Amino acid sequence: MAKLRTVHRCRCCGVVAARWQGRCPGCGEWDALVEQARPVAAETVVDPGARPQRISEVDAVGAVPRPTGVPELDRVLGGGLVPGGVTLVGGEPGIGKSTLLLQALARRSRHETTLLVCAEESAQQVRRRAERLGCLAPGLHLLAATTTDAVLAAVEEIEPALLVLDSVQTISEPDAGPTPGSPGQVRAVATTMTALAKRREMAVVLVGHVTKDGDLAGPRVLEHLVDTVLSFEGDRHHALRLLRAVKHRFGATGELGLFEMGERGLVGVDDPSGMLLGDRHPGVAGSVVVPVLEGSRILLVEVQALVTASSLNNPRRSVQGLDTGRLAQMIAVLHRHCGTNVAPLDVHAAVAGGVRVTEPAIDLGLALALASSDKDKAVPPDVVAIGEVGLGGELRQVGSTPRRLAEAARLGFRRAVLPRSAPPPPAGIAALRAGDLRTALELVDLAPKGP
Ligand code: TYD
Ligand code: MG
Repeated sequence: MAKLRTVHRCRCCGVVAARWQGRCPGCGEWDALVEQARPVAAETVVDPGARPQRISEVDAVGAVPRPTGVPELDRVLGGGLVPGGVTLVGGEPGIGKSTLLLQALARRSRHETTLLVCAEESAQQVRRRAERLGCLAPGLHLLAATTTDAVLAAVEEIEPALLVLDSVQTISEPDAGPTPGSPGQVRAVATTMTALAKRREMAVVLVGHVTKDGDLAGPRVLEHLVDTVLSFEGDRHHALRLLRAVKHRFGATGELGLFEMGERGLVGVDDPSGMLLGDRHPGVAGSVVVPVLEGSRILLVEVQALVTASSLNNPRRSVQGLDTGRLAQMIAVLHRHCGTNVAPLDVHAAVAGGVRVTEPAIDLGLALALASSDKDKAVPPDVVAIGEVGLGGELRQVGSTPRRLAEAARLGFRRAVLPRSAPPPPAGIAALRAGDLRTALELVDLAPKGP
């Protein structure tokens, strides 16, 4: 049990200080610290009487993850939720956070007591949704409340093994400022819940809405307070949802969970590449398939480019699911080293299906798609492209090339444009090797005419 003692919390930003100071150490506001009797998260994790210990003598067992029963979620968490751990699930409104957590709660609630605090929807609404999704589990309790005091009281009463707060922005902490959802409030709520999680060894999940540019209540105020940050992504207009760990104190980050949102809620996707390429029109100019690596998974994505005459002084650049910097680089390399100049044109580039790709392996595919649209000539439909493009126009190999090629072969692709140094391809797919981007363009007949 944590000792309750007084702390001083800033009325403006929520920072907790051990003793009173005239000026808040967090936001610099004068006379803003108010005395409170509350447990502090750090105090419960670190024992004040602790003595140094040899690392080999420290008890390694302790944080053992417990499965949620939703396999794609457990994959991202490296097994499940850790008792005493706090997980933040962030995502845009409407992406499916409440649905995901309801499904996870339902599995755990068959044999355990769990608590869902719904601060955004009424208990009736949640019950109706749970009925529709088959989530009426015996141990699942609902609390429609908007203050941490109500949450603390409910936790004392039913002692759940898992607590979900939906959302952290709509719950408020008394004395932490007037506006729920403000950075100070959000931080105060998370601090209280972190302390509670550690004290009761209860897994806590906080739901947080993020805006388009990824901000959670202004600055990303919560990331350092919690143990795990999961990001739930996707395009609301597509069924595919991607779940990734941005931060994970109990395991690796980078693993990807894939779901499809349907009538019966979220369902794990077994063949994401097949799903992503399902609506593709092979033989259209400006389209190239690239096997990308997400966590330990290979996904075949379609990169699309469309270049058109521009009437603007600064031609338009629109990008979806790609890094704008990479697009600018590919446009520059095509111009400087390959004689393909799309710089004065409007350029639209996208990864189809709502996936975001940040790895450099997409470079070659993006450059080929741009050249293909510029020439209005399709890349052959059985070709994939893998490789990073350097500023000198040279092609560089990327990791896991054989696995990427094997997945491409499984989906019926027969040829791959690859950097010269790439390892030999597996059976069923042939390599079209190039040392630089210009040669790669020649291999798929997209090089500009002339010397
Ligand atoms: P929701 O989980 O409420 O999103 P969030 O909590 O992230 O705001 O769900 C968002 C959308 O998902 C909603 O617009 C309706 C849709 N949806 C389905 O298509 N099928 C379903 O079974 C459910 C529960 C929701
Ligand atoms: Mg919701």
